[in-house]
Amino acid sequence: MNVKSVVRSYWDMRSQTYSIDIYKSQSEAERIWKTLLKNTIRTNKNLRILDVGTGTGFLALLLAEMGHNVTGIDISKCMLEKSRQNADKMHLSVDFMHGDAEKLPFEDETFDIVVNRNLLWTMPDPMAAVDEWSRVVKSGGKLVLIDGKWHDSATEMRLRRFLGRLVAFVTERHNPLAFTSYYSKIKDQLPFFSGSDPDDVASLFSEVGLTNISVNRLERLREFENKNRSISYNIANNPSLFMALGEKW
Ligand SMILES: C[S@@+](CC[C@H](N)C(=O)[O-])C[C@H]1O[C@@H](n2cnc3c(N)ncnc32)[C@H](O)[C@@H]1O
Repeated sequence: MNVKSVVRSYWDMRSQTYSIDIYKSQSEAERIWKTLLKNTIRTNKNLRILDVGTGTGFLALLLAEMGHNVTGIDISKCMLEKSRQNADKMHLSVDFMHGDAEKLPFEDETFDIVVNRNLLWTMPDPMAAVDEWSRVVKSGGKLVLIDGKWHDSATEMRLRRFLGRLVAFVTERHNPLAFTSYYSKIKDQLPFFSGSDPDDVASLFSEVGLTNISVNRLERLREFENKNRSISYNIANNPSLFMALGEKW
């Protein structure tokens, strides 16, 4: 079973329903995310930024709007089609490329900042992935990782996920069984399939030599997400999102 081809096929299929407009108040969400990114990046300079596993380009497009020079990379060509359409609609220029997060087609130390959101859980070798992301960060630059607990195996969360998928089927018209039918074949090969917590990521960061590691538990964003994401999402997910930051010296 080739893990990457299952992941690619799932996200190709999922691109049909995966939207950039996931919040009830999209403009408020963009404002909150931009503030968060600005406080993390802490400079108005035009930086070279890579968004790994960009999907429909959520972070890449916000960062481009903020005036940075952004590249987004994804293993799914169908997701990339969506991200390019989104960039066109927003009249933004982002270099969206096809490629593997664990084997980036860039020289060492190419980017000032490397970001990724909701990607670590689907990496077959999280340590190698973080090492690869760190490799392409310039000395003095930063790695920013956003993740959370996704597929918590506690009975209550399994039940909530089941209900959430049913609601999603009715309200968002995406097949609740599709995720399971792809990922059940490979989940045992994904160490963070259930999601990660700040300690997991802090220890990965320190193992690859990143320093000044810090974690933001994103309380304000979680509060906003609780009120502004779909009912199906809120039923199925615990508010566990966090952002980890590490610097390369
Ligand atoms: C949960 S989505 C997150 C998308 C986006 N980062 C966001 O926050 O909206 C995960 C994305 O990671 C991509 N992905 C999964 N494995 C990948 C890999 N090995 N290399 C590059 N992209 C990958 C998927 O195609 C999908 O677009």
